[in-house]
Amino acid sequence: MRSKRTIEKYLRYYVTGNFGAVVEYIDEWAPWLWRIQLIDGKLIAAKYQPLARRTRHTESDVLELERELLDFLVSKNCLVPFWMGCDKKTGFAFYEWVGDTTLDDYAQKDILSARKIIPRVVDSFKLIDNNINDMQGHLASKVIPGGEKSDLLSLWRVVTERAKWGAYALCNHLGLPSPTKKIITELDVICNDLALQDPRLGCSDFNARNIIIGDKESPYFIEFAKLNWDWTERRLVQYTTSIGSRKHRGNLRALLYKKNTRETLNIALVDAHQIVFMLNGAAEVCFAFEKEKKSFRKYFRPTYLHSLRRRLIVFANVLSEHFSLEAQLCEIRSTFSIEKKGVTIE
Ligand SMILES: Nc1ncnc2c1ncn2[C@@H]1O[C@H](COP(=O)(O)OP(=O)(O)OP(=O)(O)O)[C@@H](O)[C@H]1O
Ligand SMILES: [Mg+2]
Repeated sequence: MRSKRTIEKYLRYYVTGNFGAVVEYIDEWAPWLWRIQLIDGKLIAAKYQPLARRTRHTESDVLELERELLDFLVSKNCLVPFWMGCDKKTGFAFYEWVGDTTLDDYAQKDILSARKIIPRVVDSFKLIDNNINDMQGHLASKVIPGGEKSDLLSLWRVVTERAKWGAYALCNHLGLPSPTKKIITELDVICNDLALQDPRLGCSDFNARNIIIGDKESPYFIEFAKLNWDWTERRLVQYTTSIGSRKHRGNLRALLYKKNTRETLNIALVDAHQIVFMLNGAAEVCFAFEKEKKSFRKYFRPTYLHSLRRRLIVFANVLSEHFSLEAQLCEIRSTFSIEKKGVTIE
């Protein structure tokens, strides 16, 4: 099923046949995701799951798992969409539409309001996290290939190295003094300590576009087709970091910060995960910067370079904002402080 028209025709036919509802119109909302408006005004999300066929008849069958998790989480009063059904032949799944605005959109528009709803996002997340982990015994065998605890630990080694590289590269690009050996050793120690924490089961895709701000600013979580092991604080940091990837001049926005964290969270762990995540992001931008600089000579693209530099300044600003009171973490953060060091966007 390839063309847009064939898919829309199929969706109309399926919705009418299976939900007895008449379709008013269909929007292609995101890649492989459609918003279907019914004649009575109700909305449905239809998603094509590319992994449906590959995982069929396996323990991590994406359609079976998402049905089970959404039904279970709804029964526990978690803010997730109702599961409406799926078509195993085509790999389409149907859900209640929970709202048009993602946390990412919300944060790009108004960071102050977005930061205000973070405590509700954290509570909503914790309810989901606790319920999923109460079922660990039953769910652990359904983890996606590549999502086991051992995979997390080997990935973490890469993340640690990238964070250290990112620390040097960020300072270098912004003209800040290079991080001392002590800072790099501290980063290593912190990453090793983080790796000793017990990971939890949860959905494998945690970003601010997977939270929808619905009616009365309720934060709904979507995407439960794939389970993996990861750390709660890492999930939360990434869920609450807006990248603004859908916006023309989207910017990085860290929504979880010292003034809106919950007492129920281990602030030092959140702090450490944020540092590592930001340094990994900075590493990626620095890498792009290096690549572009080479082609810069050839193709001359000053505006793009300028926007990469702007991004690096935002990373440095987020990094240098102290979060917890942990001395080691405060020391690492101070390395990236650009205040009074004359860094400007020319
Ligand atoms: N039930 C829903 N209610 C409202 N909006 C939704 C719903 N499901 C998806 N969306 C919207 O569609 C976007 C893409 O959906 P989704 O996150 O499921 O796909 P994806 O991130 O492309 O998938 P994957 O990463 O699994 O390939 C979401 O960011 C959100 O804006
Ligand atoms: Mg998504």
